[in-house]
Amino acid sequence: MKILGIETSCDETSVSIVEDGKKVLSNVVFSQIDFHKEFFGVVPEIASRKHLEYINISLELALKDANLDIDNIDAVACTFGPGLASSLLIGVNVAKTLSFFYDIPLIKVDHVLAHVFSANIENDVEFPFIGVVVSGGHTLLFVVKDFEDIQLVGHTVDDAVGEAFDKVAKLLGLGYPGGPVIDEMSKKGNPNAFRFPLGLIDDPVDKYNFSYSGLKTKVLYTLRELEKTQVSIPVEDICASFQKSAIDIIYKKAKLLSKETGINTLVVAGGVAANSYLRKVFLEDPEIKVFIPSIKYCTDNAAMVASLGFYIYKRNIFASLDEDIYTKFHGIVKGKRKK
Ligand code: KG4
Ligand code: ZN
Repeated sequence: MKILGIETSCDETSVSIVEDGKKVLSNVVFSQIDFHKEFFGVVPEIASRKHLEYINISLELALKDANLDIDNIDAVACTFGPGLASSLLIGVNVAKTLSFFYDIPLIKVDHVLAHVFSANIENDVEFPFIGVVVSGGHTLLFVVKDFEDIQLVGHTVDDAVGEAFDKVAKLLGLGYPGGPVIDEMSKKGNPNAFRFPLGLIDDPVDKYNFSYSGLKTKVLYTLRELEKTQVSIPVEDICASFQKSAIDIIYKKAKLLSKETGINTLVVAGGVAANSYLRKVFLEDPEIKVFIPSIKYCTDNAAMVASLGFYIYKRNIFASLDEDIYTKFHGIVKGKRKK
């Protein structure tokens, strides 16, 4: 079964065709980073205009790369949320048009859940597992028992981890997006040079929640102090120390959840799962079985949307043409089950 996936929730315009949830026949991704760079973040107005510019060519290329015609497509799956409203609308309207015009089923996919299940493309991940979604917009912990049984256990109370990477990179004058450049700089730095806080560590109330504002502020104050006393700023050491705190807390909380639930299979996904230190910390732990997608399936892509779309299709859950987009995560696979 061939599902065409569409993803336009943030600043990547992506169309992909995936067969039976696993065989990626094409995955076209147009990144808009160059247009948002100078603003150190995604500008919604620019993002939606660029999606409009790229969506048709992405669709054409995805079909061409897969050597298929639209008539060969069994269903169209699209991200309906969460994300930027004006960006989501572009992809969703294209998906609805394809569904209506070619009379193919429409499947509503949640962007966060597409990240959670993205490890399924390259692996056979068995239920139950602990899902860790770390991206520019989310820092979430889940207990996942089934495609339709997903329990949200923890979330960030302020910034998302990717957002913290982006903001710290801005403070250090390293450009946007911050994740990849901090990752690279950290390789040359000492992670123990500075003691930065682990947000909400050992907090009985926010046991599984995250906080990154204190870490970001500590980096800012450290930088101000260093600027007063030192001629050259040890940027690599700051990066490595920040990265260690930002990632260690995710690892510690995921590990605690694993211990408390007895679930030792973990999936770590989302843009920050591309981080080399994160991959090392999780993958080198012999007590847990960890799945982390390839980098191309960690950052935003439509292959993960088409892949999850397949499993939703198999459950006979479809969306109607009047289904609306949503901007906040609500966490369940929703739609009408066909009898
Ligand atoms: O999942 P994603 O592509 O988009 C969202 O849904 O947010 O994640 C983008 C985020 C950005 O904040 C970016 O800085 C971060 O992922 N990121 C990284 C790395 N590569 C991308 N963070 C840390 N290390 C990386 N190597
Ligand atoms: Zn994402």
